[in-house]
Amino acid sequence: METHRRVAGKPQEPAGLSEARPPDGARPGPRAAGSRCKPLWVKLRIANLDRELEVLPGRSLLEAAFAAGLNVPHSCRGGNCGSCAALLLEGEYFYPNGIPLGLTEQQRAHGQVLLCQVRARSDITVEISLPVSADDIAIKRLPARIEHCEPLAHDVLRVTLRLPIAESFSFQAGQYLDVLLPGGRRRSFSIASAPGSAPLLELQIRRAVGGEFTEALFAAVSAGVMRGTMPAAASGAMSSEAADVSLERALRSALLTIEGPLGQFRYHESAAPMLLVGGGTGLAPLDSIMRHVIERNLKRPMRLFWGCRAARDLYADARLRGYVRQGALQEYVPVLSEAAESFGGEHGLVHQAVLRRIADLDRYDVYAAGPPAMIAAVRREFAARGAQQIHFDSFDYAPDALERQRSAAASTS
Ligand SMILES: Cc1cc2nc3c(=O)[nH]c(=O)nc-3n(C[C@H](O)[C@H](O)[C@H](O)COP(=O)(O)OP(=O)(O)OC[C@H]3O[C@@H](n4cnc5c(N)ncnc54)[C@H](O)[C@@H]3O)c2cc1C
Ligand code: FES
Repeated sequence: METHRRVAGKPQEPAGLSEARPPDGARPGPRAAGSRCKPLWVKLRIANLDRELEVLPGRSLLEAAFAAGLNVPHSCRGGNCGSCAALLLEGEYFYPNGIPLGLTEQQRAHGQVLLCQVRARSDITVEISLPVSADDIAIKRLPARIEHCEPLAHDVLRVTLRLPIAESFSFQAGQYLDVLLPGGRRRSFSIASAPGSAPLLELQIRRAVGGEFTEALFAAVSAGVMRGTMPAAASGAMSSEAADVSLERALRSALLTIEGPLGQFRYHESAAPMLLVGGGTGLAPLDSIMRHVIERNLKRPMRLFWGCRAARDLYADARLRGYVRQGALQEYVPVLSEAAESFGGEHGLVHQAVLRRIADLDRYDVYAAGPPAMIAAVRREFAARGAQQIHFDSFDYAPDALERQRSAAASTS
């Protein structure tokens, strides 16, 4: 854990490293007058929104913003992608798991913090990147019926969700939703359909080996146990208790609770050609963007590079080739990292294939979605080759899965 302090207008170096401190979480926060043990919620002031929120002790500043209904910029919520960087103007803070990987030295030097990881020690003031429209702020928690599940590949399902007809749900191409699990945990999945698709939403879900939600979903599909209709009582906005039914029961009744739309990864209007780079089910948010551009006849040149392991993983190959034949997609390049010798296309990692084939990256608006390692490589290597506009969506582990991994690693070391 590292403690930092910043005073308005005066950035300071980490202050607490040399202090004698109790272990993580043991240092008392501010206390209520007259109370010996009840910690006060600290205040988070978002200077450029002129909003003041309360932060539950131990919660990240991003969680506090969500609880207040603000969809502030973020993506992975695991400290890896850097999307939630904000300028700290005043206050004391710490990172319970050490300096996050997604925070560069340069950002630290400029007084930036990652809202998904940072915890407040005192009242704190930040300046955030502003959402572009009121739509970004309307995050809804809704019941969603699993209307249809269809295998797209050996480990990918197309899941069609139906939202209550009485609820409007607007999202921007590229955003994602969270499936709520018992105990306040959640799993993120990008919406693959175009924004006009609601109340039906398409997800493309890959089975994560040993994954709590995806393994249960695949098991329920192969056992054919989903038998759901949307109960009348569940047709409006949900309470948090409603999300707390067991996962098994939720899947048997084909009724999930979702929260969304979330995320700052989305289509941006511009005249520049688009370069779409996806890894595995990272195709899902790119699909939403492509479908949006095609349906709206926006006539933007789009080139797609899609990286998978082997040919059997290219679950949308025929459809994407169809887009090229119709002229909707300028180019589609499948890239296989474990290709058979006979594979005639690009071999290796998807970002390397882009670097081999495109010399003038500065001409493109880049949209990249997929595993964290791919996103890190795209950000680093495309920027070094002149790319100016890189929008990215990092498919990180859910925070509780990360926590489990950290604990397992700590107990074996
Ligand atoms: C913004 C965002 C959007 C996403 N969109 C999609 C999407 O459209 N489609 C999709 O398939 N996935 C997507 N993901 C990833 C997805 O959220 C995880 O794969 C999912 O949370 C796994 O849940 P689980 O309960 O099955 O696994 P967990 O119980 O969370 O994890 C258990 C184990 O599964 C493995 N695992 C979990 N997540 C990953 C991962 N991301 N990569 C590799 N191994 C993993 C690890 O071994 C982990 O220890 C997205 C993630 C983010 C952050
Ligand atoms: S680093 Fe905070 S959301 Fe990714």
